[in-house]
Amino acid sequence: MPKLSDRVGTFTDSVIRRMTRISDACGAINLSQGFPDYDPPREMLDALAKVAYEGPHQYAVTFGAQNFREALAKKAGRTLGRVIDPDREIVVTCGGTEAMMCAVMTVCNPGDKILVFSPFYENYGADAILSGADPIYVPLVPPEYDFDLNLVEDGFRRGAKAIIVCNPSNPCGKVFSREELTAIGELALRYDAFIITDEVYEHLVYAPYTHVAAASLPGLFDHVITCNSLSKTYAVTGWRLGYVIAPEEVAEAAKKVHDFLTVGAPAPLQEAAVVGLNFPESYYEELRALYTDKRDHFLAGLDSIGLKHNVPRGTYFVMVDISDFLALPAFKGMTDLEFCEWMIKNIGVAAVPGSSFFREEVNDLIRLHFAREKETLDEVIVRLGKMTALLNGQGS
Ligand SMILES: Cc1ncc(COP(=O)(O)O)c(C=O)c1O
Repeated sequence: MPKLSDRVGTFTDSVIRRMTRISDACGAINLSQGFPDYDPPREMLDALAKVAYEGPHQYAVTFGAQNFREALAKKAGRTLGRVIDPDREIVVTCGGTEAMMCAVMTVCNPGDKILVFSPFYENYGADAILSGADPIYVPLVPPEYDFDLNLVEDGFRRGAKAIIVCNPSNPCGKVFSREELTAIGELALRYDAFIITDEVYEHLVYAPYTHVAAASLPGLFDHVITCNSLSKTYAVTGWRLGYVIAPEEVAEAAKKVHDFLTVGAPAPLQEAAVVGLNFPESYYEELRALYTDKRDHFLAGLDSIGLKHNVPRGTYFVMVDISDFLALPAFKGMTDLEFCEWMIKNIGVAAVPGSSFFREEVNDLIRLHFAREKETLDEVIVRLGKMTALLNGQGS
């Protein structure tokens, strides 16, 4: 067979999405890939039903349907504290996934360096590789997931074109503070670099923490490429609607990348989603309350069976410590990936091995998400309870 490109040999398929496939095959409860098990808002479904007969069904404008961009500009303008030009500063993409790929391809030449915090959402590695960029990793140090600003500056000094900031952060639930973002921003200005933010969980931030968009900070808009998505905010991960917000010159370049990557996001779904973008602030307050409740409920369940975990300040993910299990003779020498496979087959719960998020050697963490109905989360706790019984010598 003829040889494939070198680049496809440098990364694996997504571990997260692989765990979903194994979970589905085994009929486990899937807390690996983050998506909700309940429907999108009724108003959006009604709009979708109407669109089925009334259209549009053909290509939208490549960088997004006019009414969709206008609604996005209005919503994002509230967060960013400025008027966003729907024609010049927005590119609608196929999910946040394409938004990130598009942003990295727009700013990086092959061989350029890009700063990435570790742990990181696994797509960023592939975004860098497919753009030919070399990541420089900066550790986020538990338990607060703080970082050393000197390491960020060092990366910029070495010529990094951009830094990726996932805020709130998947998988560790870190919410970047205004001070942290301001400090990163000062460096981006001093070294003339971009901040590429992934803000798909902007509405899942738990009190007393609040979301600060880097692009809203004074003087930073021209250096920030904001990537976002409707996937999590409206429970529509399958609709594949995302967007980039950037200053005009960057957005114009990103439009070209996007045009040749995918032409455009699905026209009927953009049309149906406009109603969601126009929801009042109360929708987002209710969403936050819903997920605060789920988070507290799930974490209390983990506590009740003695599983150690972090307390996420944002997102719907929690990192669980499996080091006590790996110390048991039955699990000795297991990787976290093997542990997750064992969990799916023997406990009936799917998680993601922590190693897929870290640059550093990490083998004792797994990630679970809690975007599930409470009854499902309760069943997960019952199943995981059988696992923790092993620690007390009660399991088989
Ligand atoms: C941090 C982060 N960014 C982007 C995405 C992808 O979002 P989308 O479904 O819009 O492509 C995810 C999905 O899990 C995510 O966790």
